[in-house]
Parts: sequence; C-alpha cells; structure tokens
Amino acid sequence: MVGLGPRKPPSRKGSMAGVPKDLLDQINRLEELFTVPQEKLKQITEHFKAELTKGLTVEGGSIPMNPTWCMGFPTGYETGTFLALDMGGTNLRVCEISLPEEKGEFDIIQSKYRMPEELKTGTAQELWDYVADCLQQFIEYHHEGEELGRLPLGFTFSYPASQDYIDHGVLQRWTKGFDIDGVEGKDVVPPFEAALAERGVPIKLTALVNDTTGTLIASAYTDDQMKIGCIFGTGCNAAYMEDCGSVPKLAHMKLDPKLHMAINCEWGAFDNEHKVLPRTPYDIIIDKESPRPGQQAFEKMIAGLYLGEIFRLVLADLHGNPDVCIFEGQDIGKLKKAYSLDASFLAAIEEDPFENLSETADLFANKLSLTATQPELELCRRLAELIGTRAARLSACGVAAICKKKGWESCHVGADGSVFNKYPHFKARGAVALREILGWTGRKDPIEILPAEDGSGVGAALIAALTLKRVREGQNAGIRDPEAMLKGCGGK
Ligand code: BGC
Repeated sequence: MVGLGPRKPPSRKGSMAGVPKDLLDQINRLEELFTVPQEKLKQITEHFKAELTKGLTVEGGSIPMNPTWCMGFPTGYETGTFLALDMGGTNLRVCEISLPEEKGEFDIIQSKYRMPEELKTGTAQELWDYVADCLQQFIEYHHEGEELGRLPLGFTFSYPASQDYIDHGVLQRWTKGFDIDGVEGKDVVPPFEAALAERGVPIKLTALVNDTTGTLIASAYTDDQMKIGCIFGTGCNAAYMEDCGSVPKLAHMKLDPKLHMAINCEWGAFDNEHKVLPRTPYDIIIDKESPRPGQQAFEKMIAGLYLGEIFRLVLADLHGNPDVCIFEGQDIGKLKKAYSLDASFLAAIEEDPFENLSETADLFANKLSLTATQPELELCRRLAELIGTRAARLSACGVAAICKKKGWESCHVGADGSVFNKYPHFKARGAVALREILGWTGRKDPIEILPAEDGSGVGAALIAALTLKRVREGQNAGIRDPEAMLKGCGGK
C-alpha cells in the first residue's frame, strides 16, 4: 500500500491556487476547527494524566481504569497449548497457540468466522450461541476424535468490563456500535460458559482479556521494553502495567503494593464531561446520534468507526450551506446515509497520488454517485488530512499521559488496529505530536509507538498461561475458584 509509514506526505503546495474564495474560506474554517496546536496537546495531556490517576481511586473518574488481574509480564519462557477467542467488531477469530520451550516463540493455527451484522443488535442468547458454535466447530475440525482434557481459553472481549476476577467480567457498556440487549451490567462469562456446556465443548475459560491488555502482554513477550499496549482501530484504548500500591480502589484486597497489575484504561471515555477536547459541531452530532450519547468522547474523535462519519457530516453540511453548496444541483442521497463512509474512504483519499486528485474523483463517483469539481476535490483532500491528523495527534496525548504519569522517559509502545496499521501517515503524525508534547529535539525519539504482536491471539493465550501458572503457585488474587480453574487443565 502506498503512503504507509513515517514517510513525509508528498507536498502538494500551490494546489489550492484555483480554489474560489468561498471554498477557501471553508477550508480555513475547517482548519481552525480540526487543528490541535501544540499548546492544546499539552493541556489535554495534563488533564489526561490527572484523569488516569483519578480513575484508579475509590471514587473513580470518567476513565474506568479497570484492574485486569493480569499480574505481571511474561518471561518469554511460558509453555503449553492454549486457545484464544477474539470477539472484535468484524470477525470472530479462534486460535490455538503453542508456546514452545524457546524464549519468545509461538506457533499459531487459527480460523476466522464472520460476525453477522444482525448479531450486533440481536439478543444475548443468539450472540453466545454463535460464539459457542464457532468454538465447537474449531475443536471438531482440529481435534477430531482426540481425547482432550479441557483446553484453557483466553477470551478477548474488547469492550469495557469491570473484573473482580480474571475469569469474570461485568460489561459496563457496549461500545463500537454494538447494541445487544440484556448484556450491559451483567457478567458475560456465565452465559458464555453455559452455551459451551450445552454443547459439551471441552474448554475452560481461564482469562477474560481486553484486546489492549493482550497487546501489551504479547508485545512484552518479544520485546522487554514494551510498556503500553494500544489499539487504534474501530475503537481505541490502551493498557499498561501499574503497581498495585498505586491503585487505591484495590486497597481492600490487601495486595502487596509492589505487585504488578495490568490496567485496562478504557480511555475512550476520556473527557466525557467535555472539559478539554476541542469538539467541533460535527463531533457533537456524532455523539448525539450514536446509540450511547455522552459516552466515549475521546474515542468518537479518533477511532476508525467515526472518522468516515465525521467527514460525511462535514460534506453534507457544506452541501446544505447556500454560501458554498458543494456538489451543487446533485442528488446527495448516498452521502446522506449515516455511516456510509468508513475510514478506508478517507485513507484512499489521502493516498491519491495524483496532483489532479483523479482517484478521489473516481471514489466520489463510484461510492457516492457524485461529480466533484477540482476545488471540491481539494477541499475533500484537505478535510481528510485534517480529520486523520487530528486523530493521530489526540492519540498521542493518551500515550504521553500514561508515560508522564508513570515517569517513563523512554519505552516502547505496542500498537495494533486498522487505523494504526492502514491509515496513511497515522504513525508519523502521532510521532510528531509526541515530540511536541514531550519537547524532544534529538534525532531519536525515546518513546516509540511500534507495531504490536498479536494481542488477541498470542496475548490472550499468554495471559491464560500466566494465570494458570500463578494459580499453581498458590497466587490466587482475583481467581474466583482456583480448583475449578485447574481442574482438567493439566492442573495438579
Ligand atoms: C472498547 C475497548 C477496546 C477498544 C479497542 C473500545 O471501544 O471499549 O474495550 O479496547 O475499543 O478495541
């Protein structure tokens, strides 16, 4: 793919030359709205840092800062065979991961199952039945006729869940457009286990894992400088390793303050009270029309699910504005449809290599049945850049806030997700913003955001392995029923 990586975006200077004044005024207005200057980045980071700390206290704050009961990093020498189930936004993935004796190595076999769109707004029973059917198919296919003990499973459930135990979790709220009735506020594990038991599938859920925690652990398995795991995809979030002594809300557990615990920040909820984020009128509409207004304020400005929608809302607004009236006299029926454009549409615009933006013109014709004039194409390109750049720069505030809170001056951050991996210049723009926030001037950045290892596969398996290991050693904090966990899972 063209345009990935930290390459400087090609300069298209002078290309605004033929843009008439009314559109130029709009471009200037959009630049004002969507640009986040250095000072603002710093201000957001400071507030973010305070909110991270607040989330760890008994009273809590807007960021949940969920303790995960994943207590420490892998050594690289974990061994065994584990299953991992990943229930993300688009696919359901089942993996079998073998961890051999060699440090940091793994083998993986996997199958993907499409997550039917209807399931996202269906019933809880339909969801768990579907998930259990996929697991059953996987086991039957890969282990036909074998006498299996119970295979330990790490279940990556990429939604905010508050966990009193590592193998249980109450869904706080759906995010990323999911809206299944009767799951929020409930423990997701019992109905999942019931669906497995009904089918006689030989699996023991050993750890419920957030994708960011999985990313943190998988990345640390192969790189001991990894301190933060991030997802910049359909949703966005991060996890890092905290000292139990810095988590006042766990004080009642009387854990050794020096013990480590991964914290799933759920930072998508940052600034739900709208104190610092520079929201535009378009962000306000996104929020109002989402299934969960008032929630995930930060995520709604950054995550892949929303980038195309922000873009669409701006264009629809400019069509309706009599002073500019882009796509004048054309039928904007397709552009009017909510969520009809996704982040890949913006990515494709930003990747258009041609000075006359002919690929962008084709995109508008094919996807939206619209003919865009040259100045309109210029506006669209600039708008895509502004939205993509804002997302990358705001993301950097979260990373900088964790590093500042922990006093980390140098480390690696493992990142995954479609926006991080595929959106043009996202990495480079994020790195520039980190430099601005943290005031680096040298040639090498001390904190680097790097592509992560497979968190929801290898990471979830490792967390299952680490959990079984500590239960065998008698470290049962956050384990509901240690005996049941070991039973049939090679436990002695
Ligand atoms: C969810 C998080 C998840 C993130 C990335 C957010 O919408 O709330 O739990 O880590 O998306 O997938």
